[in-house]
Parts: sequence; structure tokens; C-alpha cells
Amino acid sequence: MQTLTVDLGERSYPIYTGSGLLERSELLLPYIKGRQVAIVTNETIAPLYLEKIKSLLTSKEVTEVILPDGENFKNLDILNRVFDGLLEARHNRTTTLIALGGGVVGDMTGFAAACYQRGVDFIQVPTTLLSQVDSSVGGKTGVNHALGKNMIGAFHQPNCVVADTLTLNTLPDRELSAGLAEVIKYGLIRDAAFYAWIETNLEGLLARDPALLAEAIHRSCECKAAVVAEDEKESGVRAILNLGHTFGHAIETAMGYGEWLHGEAVAAGMVMAADLSARCGWIDAAEVERLKQLLIRANLPVKAPEGMSADQFKSLMQVDKKVIDGRLRLVLMQKVGWAVVTDEVPSGLLQETLEYFTV
Ligand code: NAD
Ligand code: GLY
Repeated sequence: MQTLTVDLGERSYPIYTGSGLLERSELLLPYIKGRQVAIVTNETIAPLYLEKIKSLLTSKEVTEVILPDGENFKNLDILNRVFDGLLEARHNRTTTLIALGGGVVGDMTGFAAACYQRGVDFIQVPTTLLSQVDSSVGGKTGVNHALGKNMIGAFHQPNCVVADTLTLNTLPDRELSAGLAEVIKYGLIRDAAFYAWIETNLEGLLARDPALLAEAIHRSCECKAAVVAEDEKESGVRAILNLGHTFGHAIETAMGYGEWLHGEAVAAGMVMAADLSARCGWIDAAEVERLKQLLIRANLPVKAPEGMSADQFKSLMQVDKKVIDGRLRLVLMQKVGWAVVTDEVPSGLLQETLEYFTV
């Protein structure tokens, strides 16, 4: 097992990563202060892992909340089912919610924990590669709105993150690839050596080599924890974690939530961001091609979906959380391993990128 800390003063917490962690009650129990626990999961994950986690909590009074599975259920209506479960079982302020699942369950559970009785504790037990490298860490929680991705939410940090890499053995291949998009993102934004390491080890990662996956998760969490510690509420540098997301969120919203996986939309969005970085003269066109080749090897899309127009992108991108006073801010690459947030991209160059990807 490897342990990292998200360093946020009094609200610091550990990220435990490794194989077989769902056997270890000592990783959960110290972070549960009351008697009541609510495990929130979905109908796909419950048959796989719910009993396992419940067996660690025999000293607790456990409520189960099983949500329908899918990004299209990440909304306020379905979130209410968590509150129904908590209130029906009379959970009080000392309750702890446990998010058992991928990023959808994690984001919804965290938001429920932020809201229930004005805020209760929660723990992340991520079971997808994407959630183990990204969404379980950093305290961004929330749900989608029909008009914009992740538009309703709160910052609410978990008490701990327990990422058992064994759970990845049951993950569908398409979901593994979607998680690799976010792993590649960390290389692009802050760690050129990690990017090269991914290029060398991609086939092993796709084959789920446990040591390689463990290394990829650890290095990704290291990067995320450092950025979050520097800028918890995204007033600055944290926005670099959104490389490709402004384009990607537009794709997810346009296609209907769940049609393109989040990681797939981020992959295509990172290529668009790289293309725009090249048009700005910041990186060579060869680096855009290098990224495309890596994403293609990872079975990820490198183009926008057919049928999306430049105007549709522009309109949806205005709903991005990085927009300030109507001014779009984008995450672009100054080089591989170094991304920045900028509001100074000439609109003509953005138009060129959007037209290039939508014809
Ligand atoms: P997901 O939660 O939809 O999970 C993907 C699929 O895998 C689902 O069908 C799920 O039921 C299934 N699944 C999960 N674990 C499994 C397992 N071990 N075995 C078999 N099947 C399993 O998707 P995701 O990619 O984990 O997360 C995407 C979500 O995360 C998006 O909503 C995105 O907005 C959010 N996100 C949030 C942050 C953040 O900082 N909060 C960061 C990145 C992404
Ligand atoms: N996934 C982006 C962030 O956590 O800030």
C-alpha cells in the first residue's frame, strides 16, 4: 500500500492506494466518528463490492443507498434519493457517507454530504481508474444540470480516500481507457517524464499490469494532491487540472450525458487544446500528433463528435466555470509537462481550432 496526504491544514486527509484494501477495516474505521454510516453506490457496483465493504463495518449501523447507474442520473432528482435514505433511517449530524463507485457516485455522495444537515463527513472508495486518479481526490462534488456539466455543487473534502486497485479487474475496457485519459492529462500538465513513462508502458497499462497501474495511480494522485494543496478552491493553478475539459464538457453536454464517457470527451478536448496551443505558437505541431498517437493507442477519441458545429462549441463553452465576466479562460500547453490558464487566446485562433475539428 502507498499513502499520500492531501495537505490542507486541519482538513488534510490520506489517500491509500494498493491491492486488497477493501479487506482492511483499519483504513476506514478511524475516519468514521459516529455510529451511523450510509454507503452510497449504484446498481452495477453493489453486487460486486457492497457486501465486502459492509463486512468491514459490522460495528456500525449501516444504511444502503443504491442509485441507478449512469452519468444521465447525475442530477438533483436522483440526488434526492440519498437524502430520502438518510432521513428515513434518521441519520444525524455524526453520520458518515461512504461513496462506493466511480466519479458519478463519488461526486453525488460528496455533494449529498456537503448538503445534508449543512455538512457531514464522507469517505471516498473509488472503483474506476478515473475516480482513483482524479475525482475522489480534491473535494469537488456536485451534479449536472441539463444546461451544463457539474454546474451545481460544492467543495467538500473527504475524510480519507481508499483506492483498492483490485476493483479495476472488473472494470470494462472502455472505462479503463477513459481513466487513462486523465492519467495522460497529468503528464501533459505537470510531468513530462511521467508522460514519456506512459508512452513506454501504455500496452502494459491496458493489459492491467498491477504494478504499472499502481504506479500510474500513485503518480497521478501525487500530482493532483500537490495542485489541490496549493489552490483548494480553484482561484488559480487548480484550473490546469481541467486541460481539455472546456472542450470536453461542451461535448458531454451536446451529446447528452453518458453518450460519450467523461474521459473520452476529455481526450478529444485535450487534442483540441493542444491544437490551439500549437496555433498560438506555444508547442510544435509534432507534439499534437504525438498526443494523438498516444490517445489512439489508448483507444480514445481524438476528434470532436460528428455533427457538432463551431457555434455549438462556442455557446456551450460559455457555460464553463472558468468563464469570468463573459470572458473565456482556457487551459493550454506551453510545452509537454507545463500547462497554464489564459484568457488571452485570440478569438480568431480559437475559431480556427473549432472549425478544424467540426468540419
Ligand atoms: P462512472 O462513475 O460513471 O463509472 C463508470 C462505469 O463503471 C459505471 O457504469 C459504473 O457503474 C461502472 N463501475 C464502476 N466501478 C466499477 C468496477 N470496479 N467494476 C465494474 N464496473 C464499475 O464514471 P467515472 O469515469 O468513474 O467518473 C466520471 C464522472 O466523474 C463524471 O461525472 C465526471 O464529471 C466526474 N469527475 C469528477 C472529478 C472531480 O474532481 N470531482 C474529476 C473528474 C471527473
Ligand atoms: N478534475 C478537476 C479538479 O479536480 O479540479
